[in-house]
Amino acid sequence: MSTPAEVAMAGGFTYGLTDIDGVVEMTLIADNLRNMKSFRLREDDILLCTYPKSGTHWTWEILNMIVAGKAEYTKHWQNSAWLEYRTEEELETLASPRIFHTHLRPRQLPESVWKLGCKIVFVQRNPKDCVVSSFCQESSQMWTDDARDTVCFTGSWSDFLSLYQDGCVVFGSIFDYILDWNKAAEQFNICQVQYEDMKKNCSKEIRRMAEYLDRPLPEKTYVEIAEACSFSNLKHANEKIKDQTYHFQWQQGTSGYFRKGKSGGWRNWFTVAQSERFNEIYKSKFNKPFPY
Ligand code: A3P
Repeated sequence: MSTPAEVAMAGGFTYGLTDIDGVVEMTLIADNLRNMKSFRLREDDILLCTYPKSGTHWTWEILNMIVAGKAEYTKHWQNSAWLEYRTEEELETLASPRIFHTHLRPRQLPESVWKLGCKIVFVQRNPKDCVVSSFCQESSQMWTDDARDTVCFTGSWSDFLSLYQDGCVVFGSIFDYILDWNKAAEQFNICQVQYEDMKKNCSKEIRRMAEYLDRPLPEKTYVEIAEACSFSNLKHANEKIKDQTYHFQWQQGTSGYFRKGKSGGWRNWFTVAQSERFNEIYKSKFNKPFPY
């Protein structure tokens, strides 16, 4: 019988995938993952934990601005501080407080995260919007670290949706990911943020994150950060202002990480039957109806 990583590759993924500890991962970072438990965290490290396409770039920039105390863009793209993608030596060179982003589950993180009580911000987004966003990314992104001249996923939307629902995609099942983080949130002091709430009132969510980080700021700074991190401003900053060293390669003419930045776009992609099936799977995993 094929493993989930094998199913993913047979289904249209063009980069190496490996099953590690029950989760599909990029082979490229397998060594980092195997050494992750002993990664040396600092007490003041901040972890931004997201399932891919939940608004990581957006929230990472916000967290950096909160820590800086002003609405000033970081020099680099967020991939400069990707916990499982960069080496420990590379990340060691970052100044404290380091703000990492990661797509790992609680059990995959460095062991010291819980002992040190590092601050954790966990962002969730409607999984239907996540799968659409992932499909658009994987169908137009190319790994710079990989010499092959091909996009990451070559199959159709319905092929992708089916693999996604089965957890045969990089970072595994979104459902299991959310369940694992919900469980961790019952035990630890984690700041839980919802993409859709950030869309509705970003300043309010920024204030909540700043207070959680014990770095409250004047009310006007929350508004300035929200404005600097609006979809169009942040897209412009990432593409035109930031140093491009840590940006990954996308197919010419595609929109990159900043595609639409909206809630509910899944309606343009799912058929009624696909939506109903997705809701059923959600219900069987969470024992409650699909909440969005
Ligand atoms: P879409 O593909 O639906 O547009 P991540 O950073 O985790 O990869 O998530 C990317 C998703 O967040 C993309 O979603 C992207 O457009 C959206 N996004 C990025 N910056 C945003 C912002 N400032 N406001 C709203 N959405 C944003």
